Amino acid sequence: MTRLLSIEEVLPLRALVLRDGKLKPEECYNEGDDHPETFHTGYLHPQGVIGIATFMIEDYPSISGVGFRLRGMAVHPEFQGTGIGRAVLQLGYQELLTRNIDYLWCNARKIAFPFYEKEGFTYLSEEFDIPGIGPHKAMYRNLK
Ligand SMILES: CC(C)(COP(=O)(O)OP(=O)(O)OC[C@H]1O[C@@H](n2cnc3c(N)ncnc32)[C@H](O)[C@@H]1OP(=O)(O)O)[C@@H](O)C(=O)NCCC(=O)NCCS
Repeated sequence: MTRLLSIEEVLPLRALVLRDGKLKPEECYNEGDDHPETFHTGYLHPQGVIGIATFMIEDYPSISGVGFRLRGMAVHPEFQGTGIGRAVLQLGYQELLTRNIDYLWCNARKIAFPFYEKEGFTYLSEEFDIPGIGPHKAMYRNLK
């Protein structure tokens, strides 16, 4: 089941999947996580939260319209490849449509390029490195 989550519900999975368990959940806050426009979607399983995504108001410089940025997209390793990531994004798209948002963008990790391509995202940038995390490209998807 998908639903909106609080940041406190998001942080443990963010730490486990996106920081390899090397940081404590409380060390995994991103700037903007508690901005009033920010929302978090998640997938609830009997064993807990197994999918997360965070959506923040932020334009990408070269795209017109009102943009949101996707951050912290992660699925528990035992459940990857079973449709959880897609479900968490779908709830985000629904919420963004109610807010009349034009597009969603993200800095995608190279390992996740095929996932975002399947979700209809296209590339916005050349590959660039985020120190300590690895190669990325900016990608986006129109919502209208
Ligand atoms: C990337 C991630 C969020 C995708 O979530 P997921 O639940 O595993 O993906 P889904 O099962 O919803 O996949 C949706 C589609 O993308 C495909 N897909 C997902 N990950 C893929 C990959 N690494 N390579 C190829 N295809 C992939 C699935 O096969 C599926 O395709 P289908 O429609 O043909 O069945 C998840 O694997 C993850 O957390 N990875 C580690 C952290 C990470 O890289 N996060 C992204 C940071 S930018």
